[in-house]
Amino acid sequence: MTVTSASPEIKIELHKSPVSDAERLQALEAPGFGKLFTDHMVLARWTADKGWHDAKVTPRRPLELDPASAVLHYAQEIFEGMKAYKADDGRILLFRPEENARRFAQSATRMAMPPVPEELFLKAVEALVRVDKGWIPSGDASLYLRPFMFANEAFLGVRPAQEYVFCVIASPVGAYFKGGAKAVSLWVETEYTRAASGGTGAAKCGGNYAASLVAQAEASKRGCDQVVFLDAAEHRWVEELGGMNVFFVMNDGSMVTPPLGGTILPGITRASVIVLAEERGFRVEQRPYSFAEWQEDAASGKLVEAFACGTAAVLAGIGLVRHAGGEFLVGDGQTGKLTSELRQQLVSLQKGVTNDVHGWTRLIPA
Ligand code: PLP
Ligand code: COI
Repeated sequence: MTVTSASPEIKIELHKSPVSDAERLQALEAPGFGKLFTDHMVLARWTADKGWHDAKVTPRRPLELDPASAVLHYAQEIFEGMKAYKADDGRILLFRPEENARRFAQSATRMAMPPVPEELFLKAVEALVRVDKGWIPSGDASLYLRPFMFANEAFLGVRPAQEYVFCVIASPVGAYFKGGAKAVSLWVETEYTRAASGGTGAAKCGGNYAASLVAQAEASKRGCDQVVFLDAAEHRWVEELGGMNVFFVMNDGSMVTPPLGGTILPGITRASVIVLAEERGFRVEQRPYSFAEWQEDAASGKLVEAFACGTAAVLAGIGLVRHAGGEFLVGDGQTGKLTSELRQQLVSLQKGVTNDVHGWTRLIPA
């Protein structure tokens, strides 16, 4: 497949918002998660002969697809999740967007799709944020950005498609979990798995989420907020949640998080938490951690906190853990002290409150 590295210029086609300023401000007061959208979107096309072309910011509208579009049949689709934050002084910041651009390219390669050049990815995200900056909430809320790409060649043969669309949409969001800072409950899934060795677990492709939904529905049925998956080979090792990585905090100054072995998503929040925790003097072990060990450590008191982390949720303490054989609490069942502190530290960095010594934030010029 031809892979172009050229990044086309982005045309800007604006329209007047169908929503009044007063209506927009009211909607931004309690945006919820993923149900409110901004006025514009980015579109770009890829064809084998032209590479990436026709990139534009354009009014948000439904997409028209041929019913034979490959994505509808063989699920060649990938996405990213990132946020733009408004600082108290009005600056607009992205958090480690180069990492999203890189992961998007890696996901594309795994799914036999042409990678979007990192420069185009970043320019596209920034252009959309600038055009729709009136939709960035202040305070604890932020603008969730969803870059995605899909195969739209009208062809039913099974092979990598020859035409793709790259799109970015934006959604003002508040907390991912309705309970706010309250610890979340997990259902440990021992039947269904999310990703196997050699599969697509490390790629952010829609299919991974489709595969997780029956287990997420089971978690909801069991009264839990989220599902936690075990490995596909032995159904023994903790992997990750449906949409978040997981950390365990021990009483001896160590932390454990499952290793990146190709079956879990290499989370950008996960990578950031490892740096921040090590700076605090914790020893972070990236190693296999079994569900049996988790139960033993919770029972003995060695495990003092556990948390889930990702762009949407930031950090969420894990309280109740329910499984086929019973249930147990992590610590006292509340969000732990380190979890709260790391969450606050990350949010302060993302919102430009604290000095960014790591060079993680990227200012979007007005
Ligand atoms: N794991 C899965 C399956 C996810 O969907 C996400 C969210 O993007 C994460 C982990 C966390 O990744 P990040 O911190 O880059 O958002
Ligand atoms: C994200 O955190 O960006 C995700 O993609 C996870 C999903 C639960 C919204």
